[in-house]
Amino acid sequence: MIDFTKEETYLATRPPFDRAMTLMADAYRSRKFFELEKDRVFSRSWVCVGYVSQVAQPGDIFLTTVAAQPLMITRDKTDNIRGFYNVCRHRGSRLIDEDGNYESIRCPYHSWRYSLDGSLLSTPFFHAENNSQDDSLVYSDEANNFNKKDFPLFSVHVDIWGCFIFVNLNPNPIPLKEWLGDLPDRLRRYPLKDLGLVARKHYALKANWKIVAENFTENYHLRWVHPRLTQFSKLENKARFQGPGMYNGWCTSPLTPDPTTVDMQLVPHHTLNATEKNSAYFFLVFPNLCLFVLPDHIFALLYQPSETGETQETGDMLVLPSTMNDPDTRHRIGKIHEFWHEVNLEDQEAVERVQKGMAAQVYQGGRMSSQYEEPVHRFQNMVIDCMIGNISIPPGDL
Ligand code: FES
Ligand SMILES: [Fe+2]
Repeated sequence: MIDFTKEETYLATRPPFDRAMTLMADAYRSRKFFELEKDRVFSRSWVCVGYVSQVAQPGDIFLTTVAAQPLMITRDKTDNIRGFYNVCRHRGSRLIDEDGNYESIRCPYHSWRYSLDGSLLSTPFFHAENNSQDDSLVYSDEANNFNKKDFPLFSVHVDIWGCFIFVNLNPNPIPLKEWLGDLPDRLRRYPLKDLGLVARKHYALKANWKIVAENFTENYHLRWVHPRLTQFSKLENKARFQGPGMYNGWCTSPLTPDPTTVDMQLVPHHTLNATEKNSAYFFLVFPNLCLFVLPDHIFALLYQPSETGETQETGDMLVLPSTMNDPDTRHRIGKIHEFWHEVNLEDQEAVERVQKGMAAQVYQGGRMSSQYEEPVHRFQNMVIDCMIGNISIPPGDL
């Protein structure tokens, strides 16, 4: 029986990428690997769950899942963004069913009520001597040996980079700042803080999440799978763009405007330098956030594994919300989203084909193109580091 938590299991993938084999195929088709990943990858990484604009107002809540754990992200009354498990401290009921704006969080089962900062506010009829709906009048901590302070919502670590909200289920995570390495600095001229989610499409991919990630991070398939994309993001203008940090990156510079495929030119962010105004950057932030950074917008793919061979994904348009006021610009943003949607459908077909192919047990892994697939190797080594319980931030190559 293979032990997926041991370094020796991965000897074939550890050499430099021009000699290495890819991660063994069982990593994509074995239930056991999938279960271990929940704990070793998704419960110990900074997992992106959404955007600050989804909790724009105090009282806003959206639901999410990380490593099969039901979570809610809130903005409390003092404007702090927080994350909690979506479970009541009384007898374990799920608390919230829908995204929305809430005055407080009330459990539908026995009506315990929590504040948006997680503290337990009231526990009606909870005490023998108390038959009032408002227990604050006759509440006695001592008599019942019960203190509401001991039963706040279970919280999770939440941190923010720009418009992105990250969650880490590890009680002692490495700081997000370390996780991201030099990526925030590379994007420092982009108004990331101000971008908001303005359009979203959902995808149910029949492929393991790592196939989705690897597909995003290599350019080898572009010629054949995305002929339209390569018109304006030409292969000969691509170079790796990755420093130290838990991410992979490429840039295309310059872009080749091609209105026959898609008119990508809105108004570039005025804070960008001349190169950035005519370039695109593609980053995979390990483990689950893919960014297409254009001069005027970001298209983001955000995915979560749901089964060994299934991944839930959203394709999200992030722009300066003020640009949506102009109907013409709004129309063009819609067109750009449509273009990315078509690109993503092309990728969906490709990744689902890989999952199907890997049902063949004779396939154990393959070799990687030295020109186009180094980031696949970098990504797979991050997975391995997580699986053996030794996360180390990779150095950059530029
Ligand atoms: S389970 Fe929530 S109040 Fe009882
Ligand atoms: Fe692709």
